[in-house]
Amino acid sequence: MTATKGLEGIVATTSSISSIIDGVLTYRGINIDDLAENATFEEVVYLLWYGKLPNRSELDQLLKDLNAYAAVPSQVIEQIKLYPKNTNSMAALRSAVSCLALYDEEANDMSSEANLRKAIKLQAQIPSIIAAFARIREGKEPIAPKSDATSIAQNFLYMLIGKEPDKVAIEALDKALVLHADHELNASTFAARVTVATLSDIYSGVTSAIGALKGPLHGGANEAVMAMLEEIGTYENVESYINTKLENKEKIMGFGHRVYKNGDPRAKHLQKMSHELGKITGNMNWYNMSIKIEDLVTGQKGLKPNVDFYSASVYTSLEIPRDLFTPIFAISRTSGWTAHILEQYENNRLIRPRAEYTGLSNQKYIPIENR
Ligand code: ACO
Repeated sequence: MTATKGLEGIVATTSSISSIIDGVLTYRGINIDDLAENATFEEVVYLLWYGKLPNRSELDQLLKDLNAYAAVPSQVIEQIKLYPKNTNSMAALRSAVSCLALYDEEANDMSSEANLRKAIKLQAQIPSIIAAFARIREGKEPIAPKSDATSIAQNFLYMLIGKEPDKVAIEALDKALVLHADHELNASTFAARVTVATLSDIYSGVTSAIGALKGPLHGGANEAVMAMLEEIGTYENVESYINTKLENKEKIMGFGHRVYKNGDPRAKHLQKMSHELGKITGNMNWYNMSIKIEDLVTGQKGLKPNVDFYSASVYTSLEIPRDLFTPIFAISRTSGWTAHILEQYENNRLIRPRAEYTGLSNQKYIPIENR
């Protein structure tokens, strides 16, 4: 038995949800470029769950269900109020999502109808949890979700800022949600599938996934990118900062990918958005710095930006606090996680690989007084 570090290149399951073939990403066979240009996030959620694009009445019904379930149980809101004000936002989300299960009577109902309903609840409530957390830590009361929201992006921004968000912000967030929705067997989705393959419940699966997304080698990179941009501060500082990092063999957040070696197809959409939003807000600094960083990192290391790199300047242009970037990634990826969880349940087998043992052998127990 020989281990493959990081399971690189290992095909661990079959899935019909999304594919990365020759650097091309598809959801249910539809190219991400096509979806990014044309689909709403709710259409993508439906596509991931049901395997086809919704017709008008199916989409209306999904929106109705998402609006109906968007309110978070009051007990969960009360618990969020008890979190320390400086709690890490992904830790808060992980705890609150775990807590949702306590107040859902069908949390452990494993029927497919109940599991699908729970997927809708999670997709509806995760944005409300994040917005509530963001307000509570500022000493404000959470805002109840709109009952007639036209999109998750609209409802989330409304709950976050406490007024009607503008159209540009809604459209930009919606597109970012489309781009982050699913990504084959990424680390957090794998974590979700491993958890539910024990026939544990969907809340446990999504809680595991949030824990995996939190790390800076995965979803946490978008926040780390913005921290880097802020640390660099000005366009003039970019070159020396990046050169020093590369000379020291330090990683530049938002670059590189386990699967894409010739570029992440989602990055160009986010780059375009970052450029457009920079023009609209009149602040091109983050975009210009990002372009310079890309030139240097790609030029010297051949590494291309991944989905997290330009999403940092996009969310900053939307005036979203830096530590909500990864939770927003979770809003989007909840659609993919739950689609994969439902797929795992449909054709389940326990996921239990082996480890190549590299420890000592033929050791004897030593009584404690002799150690
Ligand atoms: N900056 C500088 N060098 C890098 C970077 C980077 N961002 N990424 C990879 N490298 C280098 C490594 O140092 C290594 O060099 P070496 O062979 O000289 O030691 C080589 O490229 C291979 O890198 P690994 O880390 O082994 O590649 P792996 O496939 O394991 O990791 C990962 C992929 C985690 C995405 C990596 O590229 C990375 O850490 N990037 C920065 C974090 C990041 O942006 N994560 C988000 C990924 S997208 C997502 O999850 C949503």
